[in-house]
Amino acid sequence: MKKDWTSTVATPTRAMPTDARVPAEFHIGGVRIAPATVLAPMAGVTDTVFRRFIKNASMYSPGASSSDIDIETSNEVSGCGLIMTEFTSADGLSRMRAVKRKRYLTYYEDEHPISAQLFGSNAETLADSARICQDEGFDIVDLNLGCPAKRVVACNGGSGLLRDLPLIRTIFERVRAVVTIPFTVKFRMGWNDSSIVCVELARMAEDCGLDAVALHARTREQGYSGDARWDWIAAVKDAVTVPVIGNGDIRTPEDAAAMVEATRCDAVMIGRAAPANPWIFRQIAQYTASKQATGMGTYDKPTNLDRYRMIRDYFDRLLQELEEHPAFHGIAESEIEKKQRRDHESAQREAIGKMKQFASWFTHGVPGGAALRRQIFEAKRGAEVIDRVEEFFARPTEETPAFAPQHDADLEAAPASWG
Ligand SMILES: Cc1cc2nc3c(=O)[nH]c(=O)nc-3n(C[C@H](O)[C@H](O)[C@H](O)COP(=O)(O)O)c2cc1C
Repeated sequence: MKKDWTSTVATPTRAMPTDARVPAEFHIGGVRIAPATVLAPMAGVTDTVFRRFIKNASMYSPGASSSDIDIETSNEVSGCGLIMTEFTSADGLSRMRAVKRKRYLTYYEDEHPISAQLFGSNAETLADSARICQDEGFDIVDLNLGCPAKRVVACNGGSGLLRDLPLIRTIFERVRAVVTIPFTVKFRMGWNDSSIVCVELARMAEDCGLDAVALHARTREQGYSGDARWDWIAAVKDAVTVPVIGNGDIRTPEDAAAMVEATRCDAVMIGRAAPANPWIFRQIAQYTASKQATGMGTYDKPTNLDRYRMIRDYFDRLLQELEEHPAFHGIAESEIEKKQRRDHESAQREAIGKMKQFASWFTHGVPGGAALRRQIFEAKRGAEVIDRVEEFFARPTEETPAFAPQHDADLEAAPASWG
């Protein structure tokens, strides 16, 4: 199997990890996160269906695989320690009626521990919204200072705030004053190379009583280009005593260990690799445990059948969600009937959009994946998408094809407008 690790394209500058391992646990305030892995917030991706899907894909049975799972890690059954919501507008949240809020803040009990991410630039509305998240039972509330999207930056949210440290301090203090749950911040290094503020920002966060910081080690201007500059994660780690979560360009378990080795970060956060390789958290757990037990890091690699099951599982979950919005058959006459029809159609469009997006990410690196992606993009209904997937995986293959999760053009392009 050709791993990104050895690819000259993927992470050419990273050194192979020697002893470092992803820690078995860390704490954000009083919340224990075990293992020390975090699913990154991704707008349009990490809704409740995707989060639960990833948690499920991260389950493993200690001892069932070829790797020896060490005792510390074997206490855990999921390799994904913490999940985060997509970012939510604090302005929107504080204006919405309670019923509508529920739609944005929906999560299931099995998602704990879970962190709610907010963006905005008004300290009062951010504080209000943080309190709403606390009241909704979230374990942690997080502030987004990384999103480079123009519409977010235009109102000074996301990475736009990186140019205004005094305002960030006001926000930190205001939010800290109103919530008792742990409060964290996720940021980029700075606006551009001539204004790198991540170390100062992390110190300020600690000073204002925040419980952890997460750094996506790129500037706003950098977008997603070049490599994430992990040395800045190390610099932040040197500067503060609160836990530091490292983020940027982890594609494999080896990458995760290498980030810990290079930066001594307390936890790793994984974004784009999750939809491309939903097994990533389980693989990290296996790699970590086997490395501790034998000195050699090993992990299971998905077979073609695993991939089929995985994509079917996710699509079935998306279709199940549609049951919340039943179809209206016949001629809709009353306003209630018309609304039911509209809700169903919009939920159906959303589900198909997510299937297409996932298929695009998940099938990169799969032989024949381009043809499947084309067919899926032409499909109009959920059932049609499922049929194409069934046909694709039913085709004879000589052997399980090698699967190299990649960060491809689609993946790089999508987030150009995001965090
Ligand atoms: C589609 C997409 C949406 C994203 N949305 C958010 C978001 O809502 N909040 C946030 O803090 N970061 C967001 N990000 C950034 C990721 O959380 C993460 O910082 C980034 O992708 C780098 O990590 P990676 O190299 O593991 O992907 C998004 C990224 C992508 C690809």
